[in-house]
Amino acid sequence: MRAVVLTDGGLKVQERPDPVPGSDELLVKAEASGINGADLAQRAGNYPAPPGAPVDIPGLELAGTVVAIGASVRRFAIGERVMSIVAGGAQAELCVVHERVAMPVPSGLSSREAGGFAEVFMTAHDALFTQCELKMGERLLVTGAAGGVGTAAVQLGAVAGARVVASVRNKDLHGAVAAFGATVVTPDQVADSGPYDVVIELVGAPNLGVDLDSLATGGRVVVIGTGAGSQGQIELRQLMVRRAVLRASTLRARPLEEKAIAARLLERQVLPHLESGRLSVPVAASFPLEQADAAYERFSQPKLGKVVLENDR
Ligand SMILES: NC(=O)c1ccc[n+]([C@@H]2O[C@H](COP(=O)([O-])OP(=O)(O)OC[C@H]3O[C@@H](n4cnc5c(N)ncnc54)[C@H](OP(=O)(O)O)[C@@H]3O)[C@@H](O)[C@H]2O)c1
Repeated sequence: MRAVVLTDGGLKVQERPDPVPGSDELLVKAEASGINGADLAQRAGNYPAPPGAPVDIPGLELAGTVVAIGASVRRFAIGERVMSIVAGGAQAELCVVHERVAMPVPSGLSSREAGGFAEVFMTAHDALFTQCELKMGERLLVTGAAGGVGTAAVQLGAVAGARVVASVRNKDLHGAVAAFGATVVTPDQVADSGPYDVVIELVGAPNLGVDLDSLATGGRVVVIGTGAGSQGQIELRQLMVRRAVLRASTLRARPLEEKAIAARLLERQVLPHLESGRLSVPVAASFPLEQADAAYERFSQPKLGKVVLENDR
C-alpha cells in the first residue's frame, strides 16, 4: 500500500506492506483521513506513537470501506463504510481499525467529511459532555474555535442548547463560525463575554488566566490543546472562590475500553444529527495522499475546520 511515512522531521509517501487485521479488527480501505495537530507534532519528533500503533505512519482518523475482517468481528461486514479514530496509521491506503471504535458512516456524508470527523468530534464531545457535563442553557466558551475541534465543539454546544461563545483570532472566519450557532469574539473580548460555565481550552496556557477569571461559580475548564504553550502560572484562589474544576485530557493514549464507550456515545448522540444535516464537518481543504506535504502546510495556515487527505482522487 501507499502510506505517508515520517522521516527525520519530514515526510514522504512510500510503498509499505499491507497491514493485517487481528481477530477483532477491520482492514479498511481508506477513502479519506484527517490531519491533526498531533501529526505535525509527531513529524517534528515531539509526539511518538503509543505502543501498538504504527511507529512512522501518522494519522488519527479515517473513513473507508471494510475490505477484510478478523475471525471474531461481529459489528461490521466486508463492504460496509466505517469511520474511526486510530492511534496512528490512518494516512495510508489501508489501515487496521478495532471494530469497537469504528462507527458506521451516516448516509449523505462525503468521504472527506467522514474522514475528518472521528478525532475532532470525539475529542469535543468527550470534553464537553463526559468530562464537563455541559447542560442546556449553560454558557460555553470555545477557544481556537475555527479549527477542527473548535468547529465541532461550537456545533455540539449549540445543538445541546448551550449558549456558545467562540473565540476566533482571525476575523475573516468570524461569520462562518457564527453560522454554527455561536457568538464570536476575538481573544481580547473573551473576558467581557462571560461568565462561563464550561471552557474548552484549545489554544493553551496563555489563555488560562482569563479562562479562570471569567468562570462562573461551579465552572469547569478542560484543557485539550497547548499549541500556544503548555506552561504558565495559575491563581489557585480563582478556582477556590468559584468552586471550579480545572481538568485536561488526551484521547490517543486511552485504553480501548474508554475509546469504545466514546464511540458508542457518538453513535447515539451525534451521528443522527450528522445524518440530518444539523451537524456538519467543515473541510477547508482536501489533498490527494501523494500531496501530504502540501496538506500539512495547509493545516498550519488559518482555516475553517479540517484539512483532509483523500485516496483515489
Ligand atoms: N487532547 C486531545 O485528545 C486532542 C485531540 C485533538 C486535538 N487536540 C489539540 O487541540 C488543539 C486544537 O485542535 P484542532 O484540530 O482544532 O487544531 P486546528 O484545526 O489547527 O485549530 C486550532 C485553532 O486554534 C487557533 N490558534 C492557534 N494558536 C492560537 C493562538 N496563539 N491564539 C489564538 N488562536 C490560536 C487557530 O487559529 P489560526 O487558524 O488563526 O491559527 C485555529 O483556529 C490542537 O492543539 C490539537 O493538537 C488535542
